[in-house]
Amino acid sequence: MSGCPFHTSASSPASPRGAAPARLSIEDELRFLEEIHAGPRLAERRAAIREAVTRGLPAPLSTEELRQAGRIGWRNHARCIGRLHWRSLELRDHRHLDDAEQIAASLREHLELAQNDGAVRSFLTVFAPPERVGGPAPRIHNHQLCAYAGYRSADGAILGDPKNLALTEQALALGWRPAAERTRFDLLPWIVAGRDGVPRLFPLPPGLVREVPLRHPRLPWFEGLGLRWYAVPVISDMRFRAAGTDYPAAPFNGWYMGTEIGARNLADRDRYDQLPVIAERLGLDRRRPRSLWQDQALVELNVAVLHSFEREGVKLVDHHAASEEFMRFCERERAAGREVSARWDWIVPPMSPATTRVYHTPMREFPLSPDFHARSDDAVALASSG
Ligand code: ARG
Repeated sequence: MSGCPFHTSASSPASPRGAAPARLSIEDELRFLEEIHAGPRLAERRAAIREAVTRGLPAPLSTEELRQAGRIGWRNHARCIGRLHWRSLELRDHRHLDDAEQIAASLREHLELAQNDGAVRSFLTVFAPPERVGGPAPRIHNHQLCAYAGYRSADGAILGDPKNLALTEQALALGWRPAAERTRFDLLPWIVAGRDGVPRLFPLPPGLVREVPLRHPRLPWFEGLGLRWYAVPVISDMRFRAAGTDYPAAPFNGWYMGTEIGARNLADRDRYDQLPVIAERLGLDRRRPRSLWQDQALVELNVAVLHSFEREGVKLVDHHAASEEFMRFCERERAAGREVSARWDWIVPPMSPATTRVYHTPMREFPLSPDFHARSDDAVALASSG
């Protein structure tokens, strides 16, 4: 690709699934400070932070340094197509909170601020890190602040989102009582542990979570399918790492790209599996995959997602716009003299991929700091280092 900002090796995607994240040196971990300070101030801050971190203590970052770390962490995250907007991330510095009750109150606020009546804004809330490396720290068990329960009935059938079966069971075991009539869109409570490590249940106040019922601009029956999705994805189970310090509880949000809902959450066979139902209503020939009934149903479902969010005034980006924004992000990064770390298999949208420019762009992933890490990656790293 001409004008491609990536240093490309022969093939892409360059990194296999599940590759263990490489360890960065403390020098690498502190390099982001060069974007914040200069001269003697930089030397002074670097020395103070390195001193604490090498003693196993959390980095004594100022709120401003943590804010920049959060923004650069977003900029660095190899799986995110939405990084053009990294400078707009707003920080809530709640490093003083380590108690489940206070954390839940802060999460309610995070969600309200992020939803912002549909004009979604990106926030990162950072809660207390371990007092010493490896020590206890608060943790949010939910993968996202908004999620739908998945119930398995005696005959093995699943009601709701199969992705959340385990969390739903954990919530029920902790005493969660869903409404008497269970639906496939029951919002899960939060499970939060403070520094004491004890998981506690926090049911969501009614009306807190903004949701969007799905309608189709040309198919009146679509609304009758009763599909919906929540407005904002707030990821709450990733570890934020900055300046040699891990923050296990550091929820953050962007806004949705339509295909996340329309081409994955509601479409995947092991999620809501809605393509057969939609194809049926469209009168398509489901006996032969080559009638492309799945593809046609997928398009209509995604049209409905884009239309419904727009109609309700909730910010959401389509995959064509997101791809163009990502290419602009890459151009800006190149102009700033930075190479972009990216995972092709995560960046390329799950629908009509080759119509987007990102599909035709080779990418490679390499470790950077600050960054956000999946807990499952931690397990892989531990397994391969042990
Ligand atoms: N793919 C996830 C979901 O569908 C959300 C991941 C984060 N997405 C985002 N646009 N920030 O719920």
